Amino acid sequence: MVMGNLIGMVLVMEVIVSGFSYGPYGVDALSMQYYMMSCPFAKQIVTNNVNRALQADPTLAAALGCDGSVLIDSTKENTAEKDSPANLSLRGYEVIDDAKEELEQQCPGVVSCADIVAMAARDAVLWSGGPYYDIPNGRKDGSRSKIQDTINLPSPSLNASELIRMFGQHGFTAQDMVALSGAHTLGVARCSSFKSRLSTVDPTLDSSFAKTLSKTCSAGDDAEQPFDATKNTFDNFYFNALQRKSGVLFSDQTLYTSPRTRGIVNGYAMNQAMFFFDFQQAMVKMSLLDVKEGTKGEVRENCRKIN
Ligand code: HEM
Ligand SMILES: *[C@@H]1O[C@H](CO)[C@@H](O)[C@H](O)[C@H]1NC(C)=O
Ligand SMILES: *[C@@H]1O[C@H](CO)[C@@H](O)[C@H](O)[C@H]1NC(C)=O
Repeated sequence: MVMGNLIGMVLVMEVIVSGFSYGPYGVDALSMQYYMMSCPFAKQIVTNNVNRALQADPTLAAALGCDGSVLIDSTKENTAEKDSPANLSLRGYEVIDDAKEELEQQCPGVVSCADIVAMAARDAVLWSGGPYYDIPNGRKDGSRSKIQDTINLPSPSLNASELIRMFGQHGFTAQDMVALSGAHTLGVARCSSFKSRLSTVDPTLDSSFAKTLSKTCSAGDDAEQPFDATKNTFDNFYFNALQRKSGVLFSDQTLYTSPRTRGIVNGYAMNQAMFFFDFQQAMVKMSLLDVKEGTKGEVRENCRKIN
């Protein structure tokens, strides 16, 4: 009797939660409890795999720390393959593959790769010291290879106005965009992504940091420059670097150069908690973009190819 009430209550709450938060999505709606019955340990399995991999190689956090591919996929104007961290993404994919394999053993055909990628991104952010955020699950996999998507990044030559417009097309505010760019607190950029800034004097680039970048580039196009002083730690140092005109990409520095976004950068540089709060909100927003639900997609057997 008590048990029945409890279950009833959980069900009602479930309806309220899904109904209010994800109303437009219908019966196949994303939900926080999506795998509760069908694969209760899904979240734990992904987290364990991500943590194990990051223990062995902390630099993997950057490779996993963004499922922005969804966003980036649909921006046809900038398919800069040479600017893409293809190999790093591929490294990240091994973690996804391992988690998927374990999930297939426990609950075959249930957990989508899209959900695994989104959960892994969240776990990587948390592992490296960033904010925790919960994302609803229930995405289905599309008919496009996720790997194709991950290797298309926005062009690093975009200015703040272009970034605001591009992100705006997907429902993000300028503040969301700046917060999401804060993901560059993790990882590195290769020389090929910023060397165009070095051929002429760039007044938005600190002259001594320009020397640092040139030195990095002396080792070739694939030489890596960390975005900030702590490339495996999720913090607000990226925004402090922008204030010192020491952003690595033109698209990073433009956030401080532009009066439209400078105030946001200053806010995040001063207040890490505010950055974390906005970042997790924007990540949840991003995780709801371009989601395929129900029969609009499949649960892929192998994350590297469509069934
Ligand atoms: C605002 C527009 C953005 C631009 C123009 C941009 C561009 C880039 C570029 C050019 C690189 C370096 C690639 C290379 O040289 O190998 C990079 C790296 C990276 N980006 Fe972005 N990005 C943007 C937004 C984002 C977002 C929204 C996220 C995640 C929420 C993200 C996460 C990352 C991470 C973690 C790396 C480091 C990868 C690694 O070290 O393996 N970026 N980005
Ligand atoms: C990836 O790595 C391989 C070998 O390590 C290299 O030949 C290839 O050019 C790299 N691709 C990119 C896009 O960096
Ligand atoms: C940003 O780039 C666009 C397109 O190249 C250009 O028209 C615009 O003037 C630029 N804005 C600023 C503030 O530099």
